[in-house]
Amino acid sequence: MRVLVVGSGAREHALCWSLAASPLVKTVFCAPGNAGIARDAELVPIAADAVDELVVYTRSERIDLVVVGPERPLVLGLVDRLADAGIRAIGPTAAAARLEGSKAFTKALCARHGIPTAAFRVFEASERAAARTHVVAQPMPVVVKADGLAAGKGVTVAATVEEALAAVDAAFDGAFGEAGARIVIEEFLEGVEASLFALCDGQDALVLGTAQDHKRAFDGDRGPNTGGMGACSPAPPLTPALVERAMAEIVRPTLAAMASEGAPFRGILYAGLMIGRTGPRLVEYNVRMGDPECQVVLPRLMSDLGQLLLGAADGVLRRMSARFYPRHTLGVVLATRGYPGPVERGSELRGLEAAEACEDVLLFHAATRREGGRWVADGGRVLTVVGSGASLAEARARAYAAVDKIDWPEGFCRRDIGARALDASADRSGNG
Ligand code: AMP
Ligand code: GLY
Repeated sequence: MRVLVVGSGAREHALCWSLAASPLVKTVFCAPGNAGIARDAELVPIAADAVDELVVYTRSERIDLVVVGPERPLVLGLVDRLADAGIRAIGPTAAAARLEGSKAFTKALCARHGIPTAAFRVFEASERAAARTHVVAQPMPVVVKADGLAAGKGVTVAATVEEALAAVDAAFDGAFGEAGARIVIEEFLEGVEASLFALCDGQDALVLGTAQDHKRAFDGDRGPNTGGMGACSPAPPLTPALVERAMAEIVRPTLAAMASEGAPFRGILYAGLMIGRTGPRLVEYNVRMGDPECQVVLPRLMSDLGQLLLGAADGVLRRMSARFYPRHTLGVVLATRGYPGPVERGSELRGLEAAEACEDVLLFHAATRREGGRWVADGGRVLTVVGSGASLAEARARAYAAVDKIDWPEGFCRRDIGARALDASADRSGNG
């Protein structure tokens, strides 16, 4: 089969790498991809959100399956358009993508179907006074969220009433554009965060893996929020029993709810969970793989990704299962200094070959270019270096040994990816 992966980050590199190994896949194409992805896929010079061009291309090039990485083309309805053209795609329709596109939609769905999540109320911009009165009456901390896609910036965990009121006003004053014209005010959930990735075919779901992300830019979870600076898999807090509970109490009821409401979810559902004393609760859904989570999840997958995705597209996941290597993976994101703010492009990365030659290490490219024989940085997040091992500690040591082979003064990474999970497991074993 001829597969087209849409997107250009390290997440899409991992997807291309995994699909290229599938016996069912003859050629992998990636639109638009990047210089690193070009080693695993044929690049197609079409932007990820150029929906019309992508539809024309998939038809003329007789693509059998389209795998959509980022959320934007999903929200723009790429999958609906491909379906109209008779092309199989992995990713939700625009209606099903509301699970990520509108927090109020997802919270209301959870409430209607008894899916465990934080208690909440929704307010429109015309209800500012009521929202302010409500927020003042809540125990602190309280969480204020813009309803729509706000590039990860629409959530405030407010420690004080003043902060909470400021967050309400900021959203209604337009700080997040249209995304903030409606807000969700919700209960603060105590616990540990972890993410679960489920491949869904509209009716059934299979676990693709679990991961824990590191969202802040700097060590010790300091600095601004980013797209993600590193991840490990499996997510240390998610025991197999908790994964089963999250599937039974959250993911499968969501699929049933979406199907019963006329918007069956087909694609990869990313459930952001809070694991508290009473078990897993839903923090948010994304309707795609995570980045960098994908880069640590897929190398653990023993089953053929091509076959699983085809099973999801054809609605036959009920008859399938996914198997995993009993290993840990840990990914470290290398970014250009200044990220998540504006960055300079064009600095040279040396030592990539040496890093890649390290034992049990994979490099996934997010924003690299070839210039002459050199690799140069072409954006904020530039690479994810993934180590794998029999333990999280071994995976971590391998990832950082490879990172240390890379000579790139203009770049930075966090040095503490996985450290908290390792400390927590040392505490647990210390306590017997
Ligand atoms: P979201 O975009 O909804 O995932 O929120 C971003 C981050 O805010 C999450 O990853 C959590 O760390 C935090 N957060 C969101 N909602 C809650 C909540 N109800 N309780 C505690 N933390 C939350
Ligand atoms: N790493 C977080 C995300 O992909 O949304």
